[in-house]
Amino acid sequence: MTHPSPTIAQGKSAVIAQADALSIPLADASVDLVFTSPPYVDARTYGIGAQRGCVEWIDWMLSVVKECCRVCTGLVLVNCAGVTRDHRYWPAPEGLLWRWWKQGGECWRSAFLHRVGIPGSGGKQWLRSDVEFILAFKGRPGAIPWADNTACGHEPKYGSGGNPSHRRIDGTRVGDANRDAFGFGGRRVRTRPGYDDCEMAGKPMYRRGKNGERPTKAAASGERVQAYVPPAKANPGNLIKTIVGGGVMGSKLAHENEAPFSESVAEFFVKSFSRPGGIVLDPFSGSGTTIVVARRLGRIGIGLDIRMNQCELALRRLAEPPRGEAKRRSQIVPNDPSQRTLFELSS
Ligand SMILES: C[S@@+](CC[C@H](N)C(=O)[O-])C[C@H]1O[C@@H](n2cnc3c(N)ncnc32)[C@H](O)[C@@H]1O
Repeated sequence: MTHPSPTIAQGKSAVIAQADALSIPLADASVDLVFTSPPYVDARTYGIGAQRGCVEWIDWMLSVVKECCRVCTGLVLVNCAGVTRDHRYWPAPEGLLWRWWKQGGECWRSAFLHRVGIPGSGGKQWLRSDVEFILAFKGRPGAIPWADNTACGHEPKYGSGGNPSHRRIDGTRVGDANRDAFGFGGRRVRTRPGYDDCEMAGKPMYRRGKNGERPTKAAASGERVQAYVPPAKANPGNLIKTIVGGGVMGSKLAHENEAPFSESVAEFFVKSFSRPGGIVLDPFSGSGTTIVVARRLGRIGIGLDIRMNQCELALRRLAEPPRGEAKRRSQIVPNDPSQRTLFELSS
């Protein structure tokens, strides 16, 4: 089966199409990132009988992930949880990872969404479910083609403690004066001071390479150190806090979908794992959260949903003028109606 790639040909910045995530109407390796959230096991019907048992969900999602990996060169990120309709838990996300890995697929470290301020008690039986998975799959071997894993980071609060990067080759520790000259030793690091006035002045110093690789020249003398240069921004880690609920999802229209995620979540992953100008796909796009965010951040967004009413909802959302925080951060790409389109699958 050959797959058309109408979106890219049309040069649009956002495209919404009615399609089944099992059969994505795009060519192989045609998108940079997939960020999506499918129906969670049996939690909701979506009016289309979308409830599935645990094993059935895993089987179905294995096929969806495979299809996403066919079209995507980068990460395939899936927001999901094993929460059931009657407040039990099925290990569906864990089962999906296990089955994918067992059949030779590549999994990357998962991230976790900490949903702050969720309404409702979560039922009488047990604790509320505040944390959800962002499972990370990759269809092709090797490094992620594009990643800026400090894009959403913050300035490092503390310097490195220095061990082992602040020991001499012979294992002895570099003195505190040296540590201070580099701005380390537990102090807040704002700049990267030179080392003219420290005990290493005039001595060769080997830093890690641009990509963090170790120095290739073997340092023969005990006077040489391998200095750690802290990044300008710290990696924010894999626990992503998101405030959810009415008024903070980015658009009122989001609530016309049964289970939207907030724009801040999509923003985190689009910024970190898709190149500017790249293509971001959400095959369960619902109200179009990922697509709106991708366009705002200067990427091309492609949204698919099996329900036409959700495709129309996403188009309405794309037509909205940005408000509040979104407005402040937006307008890398103008909200031009000619940049929106809807194509329907021709079978
Ligand atoms: C959790 S919602 C996505 C919400 C979306 N992230 C948002 O912020 O609005 C899941 C969506 O998947 C859609 N869906 C269910 N089965 C599908 C399938 N086989 N292919 C494509 N979309 C499907 C549903 O219509 C629903 O809108």
